[in-house]
Amino acid sequence: MLYNDNPTLWGLPKLQKEIKEEQQGEVFFKENAQAGTPNEKYFYIESYGCQMNFSDSEIVASILGEAGFAPTRALETADLILVNTCSIREKAEETVRKRLRLFEKAKRQGALVGVLGCMAERLKAKFLEEEKLVDMVVGPDAYRDLPRLVTNAEEGEKGVNVFLSREETYADISPVRLDTNGVSAFISIMRGCDNMCSFCVVPFTRGRERSRNPLSIAAEARDLWERGYREVTLLGQNVDSYKFQNVENQEVTNFAQLLEIVAQISPDLRVRFSTSHPKDITDEVLFTMAKHENICKYIHLPVQSGNSRILKLMNRTYDREWYAEKVRRIYEIMPDCAISSDMIAGFCTETEDEHRETLTMMEYANYSMSYMFFYSERPGTPAAKKLKDDIDLETKKRRLNEIVLLQNKISYRHNQNDIGKTFKVLIEGNSKRSEQEFKGRNSQNKMVVFPKKEGLKTGDYCEVKIKSATSATLIGELV
Ligand code: SAH
Ligand code: SF4
Ligand code: F3S
Repeated sequence: MLYNDNPTLWGLPKLQKEIKEEQQGEVFFKENAQAGTPNEKYFYIESYGCQMNFSDSEIVASILGEAGFAPTRALETADLILVNTCSIREKAEETVRKRLRLFEKAKRQGALVGVLGCMAERLKAKFLEEEKLVDMVVGPDAYRDLPRLVTNAEEGEKGVNVFLSREETYADISPVRLDTNGVSAFISIMRGCDNMCSFCVVPFTRGRERSRNPLSIAAEARDLWERGYREVTLLGQNVDSYKFQNVENQEVTNFAQLLEIVAQISPDLRVRFSTSHPKDITDEVLFTMAKHENICKYIHLPVQSGNSRILKLMNRTYDREWYAEKVRRIYEIMPDCAISSDMIAGFCTETEDEHRETLTMMEYANYSMSYMFFYSERPGTPAAKKLKDDIDLETKKRRLNEIVLLQNKISYRHNQNDIGKTFKVLIEGNSKRSEQEFKGRNSQNKMVVFPKKEGLKTGDYCEVKIKSATSATLIGELV
């Protein structure tokens, strides 16, 4: 995976191709806007941060579509410019601020600028004072109010809506799939987070946890299947705590049951999910995964640290031994399952010995890949209030570098171990390198590249035998 001392890459584990630097964000529709009717209005949207934000941008596109706005890929043709922002680390926020500077020209030509997402929620009306070009500040639960805010802004009235809801799941809104490969799609199954990990800003920017009606999730998945999609990823900050109670019959659906419902739509619809908090993933979930071939054998199980004292300070609610046992259990129930992780280097008061325990945990868990960061203090979080951010930047970066180097080594070994194996691969399109090659992923979420064969197309499954591997990619041949 691409990595440097600028550790700002992260997503809920996502298609590797879609891992984007926060510096760039994801620009939907990169080519010029298609000619529309002359009086049609256009919006342009850029997304930063995790897949929840990308998924939200598709909800925003749907809401704006109803209000008469079509998406454009060209900034200069936009009447409305939106940035869906992330607050997870300081760097992510700096990136958005820099990006806003570039919208000044478009602004002079009359476009409106709206800030959405987690930074909007964190900074609220202060954003309007700090960034004069911004017309609208809209939090993650307030997107239904966008058309009204846009109308007001068109009349010169700036607006803020950062109301956090206990119910909003946008369940009835059918997302407009932006920048899709037509094969894989994300389905948001819950919003918010109740966990309060001490380093994390998400509970403040996304509010309380709430789960979406399983019927609407299944309907969305079925609709995608009927439109040719072959893979859905169920999204939430902590999917294993998914819980929906039907008000009519009081029936409760948990995550294992939801997985089963979605897996039964078709044996040829792959099901993935992200992210799993280690404390909530149950045997029931693991057995459900094992039972259905189409539930992918891949779990993103962020450890954050391998040391029990640090985990306690982080308020992760598990310790080293508990996590190690979870990993053992996963491999016991699904020997072919891949596990990936997130790690934070240099959290408050972390010693060298404690840092080394993160390294030994990485070896033990044998992660296929990881997202790795150094600690970035976020205002208002429990850690910012109670703990001292006392590891100097140089040490944080050095520790992070050790983590990254070790992960590269482990990923390489993990992939070498696949040489000679045959995997079922879902074709996602041409490989980056060549039009003569396809790329796709196996169940374990590894990218596989192989020469094309007549008759095969994007969205098909095929069997590929692995011939060689790098730390990021498996290279094979059709069997
Ligand atoms: N809900 C997910 C994580 C969401 S945030 C989970 O609990 O696993 C994604 C990742 O960003 C986290 O796993 C963590 O590794 C990292 N992260 C969050 N806050 C951070 C901070 N203040 N500094 C550095 N990394 C952070
Ligand atoms: Fe943040 Fe923890 Fe919630 Fe993940 S589980 S979003 S790290 S508070
Ligand atoms: Fe996601 Fe960043 Fe918000 S990681 S939930 S967009 S703070």
